[in-house]
Amino acid sequence: MTKAVKGTHDLFKESLRCQQAVVSRAREWLEAAGASEIATPVFELTEVFERGVGESTDIVQKEMFTFTDRGNRSLTLRPEGTAGVVRAYIEHGMKVWPQPVRLWYAGPMFRAERPQKGRQRQFHQVGFELLGSASPLADAEAVALSYRILETLGLRDMKLKLGSVGDAEDRRRYNQYLREALSPRQDDLSPDSQRRLSTNPMRILDSKSEDDRQVLKELGIRPMLEFLGPGAREHFEAVKRILGGLGVPFEVDPAIVRGLDYYARTSWEIHHEQLGAQSALGGGGRYDGLAELLGGPPTPGVGWALGIERVCLALEAEGVSPPPERTLDIYIAPLGEGQLELALAAAASLWPEVRAEYALSPRKPGKAIREAEKRGARFVGLLGEEEARAGALTIKDIASGRQQTVPLNRVREWLESGGEL
Ligand code: HAM
Repeated sequence: MTKAVKGTHDLFKESLRCQQAVVSRAREWLEAAGASEIATPVFELTEVFERGVGESTDIVQKEMFTFTDRGNRSLTLRPEGTAGVVRAYIEHGMKVWPQPVRLWYAGPMFRAERPQKGRQRQFHQVGFELLGSASPLADAEAVALSYRILETLGLRDMKLKLGSVGDAEDRRRYNQYLREALSPRQDDLSPDSQRRLSTNPMRILDSKSEDDRQVLKELGIRPMLEFLGPGAREHFEAVKRILGGLGVPFEVDPAIVRGLDYYARTSWEIHHEQLGAQSALGGGGRYDGLAELLGGPPTPGVGWALGIERVCLALEAEGVSPPPERTLDIYIAPLGEGQLELALAAAASLWPEVRAEYALSPRKPGKAIREAEKRGARFVGLLGEEEARAGALTIKDIASGRQQTVPLNRVREWLESGGEL
């Protein structure tokens, strides 16, 4: 048997309904806040991510699904949504729209990570990007939206960790400090972190390796927050104050590290306490230099993405079920060969207001009722020779057993008005 590729999943019934519920709750909040939906392609020229996400990140170095097309172009399945959205903002001249421009998106993302609970190779995100404002109000708005969406989905055991990765100059100084502090212990670091020591020392802080963690602890490494310059510090203070005013609970994480290179100043993650190793439900931050990296005009921006599978795992852990599927109103059964087409026509005349299924071959009344029950229908509609002649349907309330013959052209109205027998 051929199976779905490792790290990918089929979504149906509850799993799909949960994802749809997350997206519709996000849509509700984001559109209320003035955002329009954008759908960018699932693949882009590889350079969009190399330049956008950053050459030294794990994503670009080892997690991208990259392939060469027939025209010998290097293409990559998007590992995240921000780079593509900023590429689209530049390409379509959104700079001349009234600023800021608020965009939101939902869709599949692809990362060649080792699959485990909460980590897939194809996963889904819903995300928000606010482009064209450098104000701390924009950061606070974005953080608040990400938090409120999760809260109103019903999640409680969440922690919002807020930090700042400073301006480019602050990070340069911090990376230099890390290099100097860690170099004497280079040999005790994991091979990955030894490599990062020259390419991107800040990533070492995010390492899961026990050896690395031990070295960091022994050296008493200072956090990024202590290296913020006056501009980034003032911005961070403002974001915290505004968020406090909005009543969004957060804790400051002095050492927040994100897996993407485009961040500047504010960055945050929302973790769920019952999810184990992959506990980040979502994350985001400000990315003021990104548009320029992608060849566009300087454009400040801030945004976030939620991992929908993880949000669904968290909802399940907290016992919040997805909304139920629309129940079947009526199951229509032809009693003989002569009524087959009429059964379809009767069901079709009820769609889409009424959810109606029909049997594709003749049924005896008893079997039709059992099948209707299995499908969760409230009513069964029996269509025999007599009904066909009279242009009617005998409708039976499965729970009470009561029945009534209703003219076919009145069935919809009858069901919609509650179908009292
Ligand atoms: P990210 O932190 O890389 O940020 O991903 C956001 C969320 O996507 C994570 O917190 C996690 O819930 C989910 N996620 C990431 N990788 C996987 C995976 N392999 N399997 C399942 N879920 C996963 C971004 O992607 C940025 N684009 C967010 C952003 C938008 N920053 C600014 N604007």
